[in-house]
Amino acid sequence: MGRLEGAVAHITGAASGIGAACVDRFATEGAVVVGTDIQEPIGAFTGVTFETLDVRDEGAQQAVAERIVADHGRLDIVVTAAGVAVGGPVHVLDSGEWQRCQDINVTGTMYSIKAALPAMLDQRAGAIVTVASVEGIEGCEGGSAYNASKGAVILLTKNIACDYGRAGIRANALCPGFVNTPLLAGTLPEGEFKDGVREQHKLGRLGEPDELAAAALFLASDDASFVTGVALPVDGGYTAGHAYGLAESFATL
Ligand code: NAI
Repeated sequence: MGRLEGAVAHITGAASGIGAACVDRFATEGAVVVGTDIQEPIGAFTGVTFETLDVRDEGAQQAVAERIVADHGRLDIVVTAAGVAVGGPVHVLDSGEWQRCQDINVTGTMYSIKAALPAMLDQRAGAIVTVASVEGIEGCEGGSAYNASKGAVILLTKNIACDYGRAGIRANALCPGFVNTPLLAGTLPEGEFKDGVREQHKLGRLGEPDELAAAALFLASDDASFVTGVALPVDGGYTAGHAYGLAESFATL
């Protein structure tokens, strides 16, 4: 029996990367999955319902949630993987790009949660997994708009945990390190900077979408029944601390 047998899940950003990996993993674990995205799925999307959705559209978000409840009778899990990366230090940052980043990453996340809450409140149960980032926990060169948005996602998630815990609803933020997805390929091409980023991960490599889906599964499942309000780094040690190669200079390593 799968770990999500009988559960109904809405996963945003489902067409690509971490969201797509969550779709596959959650469906494999027995969940009924409705995946949504502003773009068509990049890979195979079989046995799962797909709907087009712009997370910035509050009315469309509500319609999707209502349709899920009408079709499947409940809504147990929301994973908010839709997101964009906007780069640049503040003095060259375009205001429109700043706003787009906040609209999709923060407001879009809030709309996804808000749309699911009526069903979860009726059920007196629900699991919300937001996809934040290690960049919501600490700063990162050139990440101003993105880091601000992901910091906001983490605190929004903690507040949801505070507001709805007594109604049986858990909310946790997944904080990936740098993960091999189209988003990363688009913002960080191979080369010197990417090598430097890779080095910051104490395991010496970037993450894979499946590794994030495994952690999202944990947070969404009953295995995490006493876990709420957490910002969980799944980051190969990126946020563990600073490392300069000193340990490697000892012969024993
Ligand atoms: P991705 O680009 O592969 O997937 C993101 C998906 O979000 C895309 O399919 C895109 O079409 C969708 N999306 C963008 N704007 C949307 C909108 N307005 N409405 C609905 N869908 C929209 O990227 P990836 O890497 O899988 O990112 C997933 C989440 O993980 C994002 O929130 C990202 O910020 C976060 N993340 C990614 C990291 C990485 O290194 N790849 C690191 C930390 C966090």
